[in-house]
This record gives sequence, structure tokens and C-alpha cells, in this order.
Amino acid sequence: MVSALNLHVHGGQDDGPPIEWDFSSNANAVPLPADLLARLLTADRRLYPEPTYASVRQALAQWHGVDAARIVPTAGSSEGIRRLTLAAFLAGYRQVCVPEPAYGDYRTAALALGMNVQPMAHYPDLILQGPVLLWLCEPCNPTGSSLPADFWSALAHAQRMHPGLIVALDRAYEPLRLQGHDPVPVACAERCWQLYSPNKALGLTGVRAGWMLAPVADQAGLLPSLQHLAPSWVLSAEGVSLLTQWPSAAVQDWLARAHDTLREGLRRQQAALVERAWVHQATCTNFVVSRHPLLDAADLHDLNTFLRAQGLKWRDAANLGLPGWVRWRVHQPQAQAALLKALDQWMALRKQPSRSAA
Ligand SMILES: Cc1ncc(COP(=O)(O)O)c(C=O)c1O
Repeated sequence: MVSALNLHVHGGQDDGPPIEWDFSSNANAVPLPADLLARLLTADRRLYPEPTYASVRQALAQWHGVDAARIVPTAGSSEGIRRLTLAAFLAGYRQVCVPEPAYGDYRTAALALGMNVQPMAHYPDLILQGPVLLWLCEPCNPTGSSLPADFWSALAHAQRMHPGLIVALDRAYEPLRLQGHDPVPVACAERCWQLYSPNKALGLTGVRAGWMLAPVADQAGLLPSLQHLAPSWVLSAEGVSLLTQWPSAAVQDWLARAHDTLREGLRRQQAALVERAWVHQATCTNFVVSRHPLLDAADLHDLNTFLRAQGLKWRDAANLGLPGWVRWRVHQPQAQAALLKALDQWMALRKQPSRSAA
């Protein structure tokens, strides 16, 4: 049942009091310099944006080195996930494979249409039976990890052999890859629908804007449907501004410098948590999943409630498919200090005999 999935559990703002230090979204926490921020948000709100988005599509196409016909603007990847799933449904697709753990919208979009959702590992069997929509996220949310090279070569082979396989590749965190290289072979990427969402890398998640890059050959014929299904003016004026500026040297150079800050912050934040007995899964991005071996689900709930009351929030990863784990992003030193202080306070409270007897 879709309703049981709790559609609106996400990182970031919730309906509680303001969050002073938010570790719970994956957005880049390195602040944009004021001039760049102003440039990114310049928008003329008095007018409708040009409805075909020709110039922003051209700018993005040039950045990718592709034809502008392959760029499909979205109101962010969450909207893109819904629209691509619907287009696949209208093209007769009923089987959807999703990574586990994963961003929940792949699953909820498919379930909302009554499609059959299976774990990603089942796609090689399912494509023998008929058309399949396979969602992948590289690098993956929530773990921040990359799929190995042998997975990608097997997928490239499957793409060649099975034209009914649609691969939707979520690139939300590629611009926040801090280590290693994109493992997706070009031949494989060119057969995927790739979803881009630069608001995370820019720390501007309130701007709802992104794009899909269509595969070189749209074998399932989804492109016309994706265009017809888009609401008029799917991108806001701010969205146009953000996407137009994204390929600029000013933005890309700032992001490259921000990576150095993030790598250092990651090292510091991981080490401080290890000192407190937390263990981490490997990540190549600015976010990590961690658990404390001595904390059960009730402890974790208590800890998260305590942190939230202190104006801090990290992401319980249970509804992302990792019960017992939390996901946190690299934050500024002041935020890190506040988190560590609160963790130490909670641990000290927990050790008090009156509390453990209660
Ligand atoms: C993997 C992944 N894809 C897509 C999204 C949604 O992106 P957008 O803000 O562009 O809707 C998120 C947001 O957290 C995400 O983690």
C-alpha cells in the first residue's frame, strides 16, 4: 500500500521547530559566496519563463556535448522520477527494479501506478520475461557508495541484448563525488535516461529544478510522452537561472574548491564519530551512513529525538532501507562541534542509573 510508505519522510526541514544544524539532507554545506549566490538566484518573476526552455536546454546540451533535443527540463529529480515512471507505464511497462537501500521515490512512483516493484538484483531474470524499468543511483543515496565495475559491464551487456530494458540513472550526487571516478562506462551511460539535480551540489535544495538527459537512441520511445506529460512552465524562473548558470566556470570552479573543504570535513567528522564507537559504511560522497553497535532501535529513536530537541537533525535511514543506521552529511566545523557535544550529553544521560532504571 502506498499510504503505508509515508511519502513525505525526507531529510531537511520538517514540521517541528527550526533546525539550527541540519545534517539530514545531503546538500553541500559549504556556503556559496554572496556574489555567486546572487547570480544563481537572479530571476525575473514578473514573466513566465520561455516555455520551450530553448536557451537553458542549449546551455546544458553544450555542457554535456550532446544535441539539445536530448535535454528534458524537470522541476527537480523527484518530479522527473514520477514523470519517467509514468511514461514507462504508458509505454506498457509494469516491472520496476529499484536499488535497496535507495531514495524512496523510485518505489513510491511505481507503486502509485500499481506497478510491480522488485529489488535491483532481480533485473537480469525479469528482462528475460519482458520490459523492465531499472532505477540506479550513482553514487548511491543513502550509502554514498559506487556500484563496482563488473556490475556496469554486465549492465552494458544486458542493455545491448535487451532493448526492452529502460535504465534510469539518477545522477543527483555525481557532482558531489569526492573520491574516485564515475564508474559508468560511456557505452552504458549513453543507453540510460540520466537525471540531474544540481540543487544538492549548490546547497540550494529549495530551488526545484533539474533535467533528464535522454539516451542516444530512445528505444522505448519515451521522449514525446515525457514532453507531453510535463506541465507548462515546469521550470520556475529561479530554476531557469540556476540551470543556466550551472555549467559556468564560476560555478564549476567553486564546486571543485568546495570538494577540498568537504573531504577535510568528512575526515574530521568520521574520525570524531569513530572515537565515540560509531562505525561507518564506505562513501565516495559528502554523506555517510553510520551506526553505533550498542544502540538498538529504541535507543536510536531516543537519541534522534534528543538531537532534534537541541536543534540538530540527522537522518534515520530506516525508511531508506537501512534500519539501525543514520545518514549524515559533512557540515561546517561549528555544526560538527554542536553535534558531538549533543551526542556526548546524550551518552552521559544514558549512563545515569536513574535513567537506565526508568
Ligand atoms: C537520490 C536522489 N534523487 C533525487 C532526489 C530529489 O531531487 P530533487 O531535489 O531534484 O527533487 C533526491 C533528494 O534527496 C535524492 O536523494
